[in-house]
Amino acid sequence: MNRVVLAEGIDWVGVVDWNIRDFHGYVTRRGTTYNAYLIQDEKNALVDTVKHTFANELLQKICALMDPAKIDYIIVNHVEIDHSGSLPIIAKYAKNATIIASARGKDAIIEHYGSDFRIEVVKTGDELKLGKRTLRFIEAPMLHWPDSMFTYVVEDKILMPNDAFGQHLATSARFDDEVNENVLMEEAKTYYANILMPLAPLITRKLEEVTQLGIPIAMIAPSHGVIWRANPAKIIHAYADWSAGAGKNKVVIVYDTMWGSTDRMARAIAEGAASQGVEVKVLKLRAADLTEALTEILDAKAVVVGSPTLNNGMFPTISAFLTYAVGLKPKGKLWSFFGSYGWGGGAVRSMTEMAQKAGFQIHETNIEVKYVPDQEDLKKCFELGQQIAARTKA
Ligand SMILES: Cc1cc2nc3c(=O)[nH]c(=O)nc-3n(C[C@H](O)[C@H](O)[C@H](O)COP(=O)(O)O)c2cc1C
Ligand SMILES: [Fe+2]
Ligand SMILES: [Fe+2]
Repeated sequence: MNRVVLAEGIDWVGVVDWNIRDFHGYVTRRGTTYNAYLIQDEKNALVDTVKHTFANELLQKICALMDPAKIDYIIVNHVEIDHSGSLPIIAKYAKNATIIASARGKDAIIEHYGSDFRIEVVKTGDELKLGKRTLRFIEAPMLHWPDSMFTYVVEDKILMPNDAFGQHLATSARFDDEVNENVLMEEAKTYYANILMPLAPLITRKLEEVTQLGIPIAMIAPSHGVIWRANPAKIIHAYADWSAGAGKNKVVIVYDTMWGSTDRMARAIAEGAASQGVEVKVLKLRAADLTEALTEILDAKAVVVGSPTLNNGMFPTISAFLTYAVGLKPKGKLWSFFGSYGWGGGAVRSMTEMAQKAGFQIHETNIEVKYVPDQEDLKKCFELGQQIAARTKA
C-alpha cells in the first residue's frame, strides 16, 4: 500500500469514490473522496471513517499500519453517513476505542446506529493528549450539520474540519500542490455553492473565531478531496470572499422552454447584457444541472429566470431550480423573470411570488410574451438585459 503521510505518525486512510456522479442530488462530475486520518502515538486515534460501502477498504488501510484493536479513540467530527457509515464495522474491530463526539454528535450517533457505543462528549477548547500530540476540538454547528466539529492537531498545526474546505474531487493525488489548481478551485467553489452557501454568516463568524483563537494552520485536511498543505490560506481567503457574497459584474440567465419562445427571449436578454461588457452565462435547465447553475450564481450579481407557462404555472425544472435556490439563500443578487405563455399565463407570476416570499431583491421589469416573441418583444428583452447589466455595474 502507498502510504500517504501528512506528518510523522499521521496517515491518510481514506478512500476514493471515483464513480459517484450523484451525491444526494449534487452532480459530482469528478467523483469524490471520503477522508479519514490515522494518528499513531502513545494513544492512537482514527479521525472520521468513510461511507459504509467502503468500510472494508478503510479497514485494510488501517490494518496495513496497525492492529485496529489498538485504536484508543475514534473521533467522529460529523455523523453524516458519508463520514460515519463505517463506524459500526470499524468499532467492532477497534473494540477498545472510545468514540469522541460533540454533544449533538453523540445523540446523532445513537439515532443512526443505536446505543452500543462508548462515547465521550467534547466541547470547544477540550483537549485530548495522545502522547507527543494533542488533539483540540472546536465545535462547528451547522458546518455541515448541528453535530459538526473540527479537530485540530496542535503540534503539527493540522486542522481537520471535516466537510468545511472540502471538494468533490476524485484523484490519485492527495495534496493541493499535486493537482491542477484551476480544477481544484472550481470544485472547491462548486462544493461551497451547493453545500455551504446558506451557511455564509456562520462561516464568516467561524473564520473570525478561528482567527481569534490564534491557532496557526499549516495544513487543512478536510473530509472530501485533497489536503491543503501548500497553500491553506488560499481556501480560507476564498471562503471569506464567497461568504461575503461579493459578486462579479456577471449575469446568469437560467431558463427552460418547450417550443423555443422562452429560449429566444433568453438569447436576446443575454445579448443585451453582454452589450454592456459584463460576463454572461446562459443555462437551459434540461442541458445544465442545478449544481452548475448555483455554482455560476455564487459569484454573479444578477440572475434572470425564464419559464414558459405550463398548466397555469412554471415549468417543473424552473420550479425545482427556484426551490433549490431559495434554500441555498444566495446573497445580494438582483432577480428578474421572463417567459412565454399562450392564454392565461402564470409562470412569471409564480416565479415572482416565490422570489418575493424568499425576500429576493427583484428588478421592476419582468417580461411576458404571448406565444412567439416578435421583433418588438425581442427588443424589450435586449433592453432588459442592458438594464440588468447596468445595475450590476452600478
Ligand atoms: C403542455 C402545455 C401546457 C400549457 N399550459 C399553458 C397554460 O396553462 N397557460 C398558458 O398561458 N399557456 C400554456 N401553454 C402555452 C405555452 O405557455 C406557450 O406555447 C408558450 O409560448 C411556450 O413557450 P416556449 O416556446 O418557451 O415553451 C401550454 C403549452 C403546453 C405545450
Ligand atoms: Fe456533511
Ligand atoms: Fe461530507
